[in-house]
Amino acid sequence: MESSSSSSLTSSSSGTSCQTGDQNNDIHLRNNTNEEEEQPFTPWNHPNLSLRASSPRSFRSRQHVNPLASKFQQPTILPEDWPQTVFHDLQRPLFLDIGCSRGGFLLDLATQRPNDYNYLGLEIRPIIVHQAQDRVKKRPHLHGHIDFVGCNANVDLDRLLTRLSQATTTTTKTTANQDDESSDRNSTPRCKILQMVCIQFPDPHFKARHAKRRVVTPELVTSLARFMPPASRVFLQSDVQSVLDEMRLQFRQQSEYFRDARESVEEYIPENIVGIPTEREVSVLEQNLPVYRALFTRTEQEHSKEEAEEEGG
Ligand SMILES: C[S@@+](CC[C@H](N)C(=O)[O-])C[C@H]1O[C@@H](n2cnc3c(N)ncnc32)[C@H](O)[C@@H]1O
Repeated sequence: MESSSSSSLTSSSSGTSCQTGDQNNDIHLRNNTNEEEEQPFTPWNHPNLSLRASSPRSFRSRQHVNPLASKFQQPTILPEDWPQTVFHDLQRPLFLDIGCSRGGFLLDLATQRPNDYNYLGLEIRPIIVHQAQDRVKKRPHLHGHIDFVGCNANVDLDRLLTRLSQATTTTTKTTANQDDESSDRNSTPRCKILQMVCIQFPDPHFKARHAKRRVVTPELVTSLARFMPPASRVFLQSDVQSVLDEMRLQFRQQSEYFRDARESVEEYIPENIVGIPTEREVSVLEQNLPVYRALFTRTEQEHSKEEAEEEGG
């Protein structure tokens, strides 16, 4: 099955007409060449994405999408062997960029620090994430270290992190079993590789009635709390002060899991702690506009859901 991950990007136009235009994203089910099989299409695996992504017009792609639209409520389709096929060493720490756009930030970071992390970018706009995936294809030296997944982070983050967590736990168990056959009887602690999360210049959705479209929700913070190990970090940036403040508030409201690097909400982190600017950040700084930043560290507190699972066996 075609996937929304860069590991398997071959588009098939079989059984579909290659139309262009956003209306195609509304088509969820189409017949395959094999009339008996139905191929589910999500916005991120539509067969005409390649064509649309390579069109010069795609660079004028819509700035914002509505993440609450029904087409973006679908789970993305991942290859069965994701993430094993995209990350050669699953035990590496994971660097997650939510709302990565065309992926320039992660590509630069992975180029500068190829051995430090596995890099994963999530992006909702289908054409834009397709372009990020194409950029990976053109950089063979990064294969095995970086992946861009087309999805709605508010729908899929938990599932993706569960898959990653299961894959790393399986790898740990396999390695452990080579040394100690009894290790299966011991409870294998949940392997938490998610060391760094960035949410940078998220769509502001200024109108009050659109506030629900913002990517940082209590549920998203909860998912991060579940999968991030103690001392891992979340870095937030925005050129819109109220947007940064609101994201920050969402993390401060789960203060048992996330500790703000600054006690006062009136204080911001002065610099980009990663040291590599995002595409949006470059454009904001070129205009001499301010950037508001916050940094959170995951506390030692076990997530209540994890505790409940452990107690239940
Ligand atoms: C203003 S851009 C910033 C891109 C990049 N982080 C940067 O700083 O250059 C925000 C990105 O987040 C993506 N986005 C918005 N909501 C999202 C969601 N629910 N899931 C995944 N990506 C989302 C948008 O499509 C857009 O590409």
